[in-house]
Amino acid sequence: MSDEREREGGAASGSGLGLTRRAMLRAGVLGAAGLATAGATVAVGGTQEPASAGHGSHDALRVEGSMQPGGFDPTAYATSFDLGRQSLLPGGRVLREYELVAVDREIEIAPGVFFPAWTYNGQVPGPTLRCTEGDRVRVRFTNAGSHPHTIHFHGIHAADMDGVFEIVEPGGKYVYEFDAEPFGLQIYHCHSVPLKRHIHKGLYGMFVIDPPGGREPARELVMLMNAFDTNFDNDNEFYAVNTVAFHYQTNPIPLQLNELTRVYLANLTEFDLINSFHLHGNFFKAYRTGASLSQHEYTDNLMLCQGERAVLEFRFKHPGRFMFHAHQSEFAELGWMGVFDVREAPNA
Ligand code: CU
Ligand code: CU
Repeated sequence: MSDEREREGGAASGSGLGLTRRAMLRAGVLGAAGLATAGATVAVGGTQEPASAGHGSHDALRVEGSMQPGGFDPTAYATSFDLGRQSLLPGGRVLREYELVAVDREIEIAPGVFFPAWTYNGQVPGPTLRCTEGDRVRVRFTNAGSHPHTIHFHGIHAADMDGVFEIVEPGGKYVYEFDAEPFGLQIYHCHSVPLKRHIHKGLYGMFVIDPPGGREPARELVMLMNAFDTNFDNDNEFYAVNTVAFHYQTNPIPLQLNELTRVYLANLTEFDLINSFHLHGNFFKAYRTGASLSQHEYTDNLMLCQGERAVLEFRFKHPGRFMFHAHQSEFAELGWMGVFDVREAPNA
């Protein structure tokens, strides 16, 4: 076991995890040999061939086996927002108070594949905090983990609220307090060193600051692109949106025809320079960082560096099943793909 692995306090478990991701693809771990002994099989439908790059094979990729009950549910996560405990300050401003606790926890990232994570509140990603621009935000942080951690919020705030130099030792506490600005899609993550390890281990989450007048009513979904290096070689073996490989392929997201859909998209993938979101059968408006209500791109494929995020808006004109996935084929084939199931409106 390498020093790195020993420092981690345990390696990921499951079969095939000693292989690098490229070796996994070459060896056909994504093929029928799969991860069967770990209780999971990532199979290429109807063929023994290793997964090949390109659009043609996407529809055939799937994951088999089931997740342990009671674990993290990406379907629930996508629509869960923590609005905090709300009260009014003298003068009428809204105060929102949140609790975040860093805790070491083994999480399941594909059926039968476990990863020794560091988490906020026991989940990866941490809870999606939400407030409105101008609110006072107070976050009580407790480090119940085994390593020094912090919470670094993106946004405009005082230096000692930035979660960089005020390291919180195991057993320690810190209170972050600031006015929420600017509106947009922010993120938070640990900023202890080595930074790449603290982020990759799972200490990150979304932080939505709504514009003062809100946004147009829509079906809202949180999607955080992440990945896991299960053999600690600084290269990811599993990719996902919201942690669990292939989750939204196994559990398609139902949408209604012509319904406005808004995706809060961020990239926290470590070790790879970029990640991307590609939508099939449609185009979307992409508001970078969600910081403007008017300036957007119109595209079907958006590339984000680590730490970048965007608010996407779209409506489907056609019913049926449409994929969304990383346009890096390798990421898609290692778990970052999902399906929107677009249905006619009930009364249509
Ligand atoms: Cu940390
Ligand atoms: Cu950051």
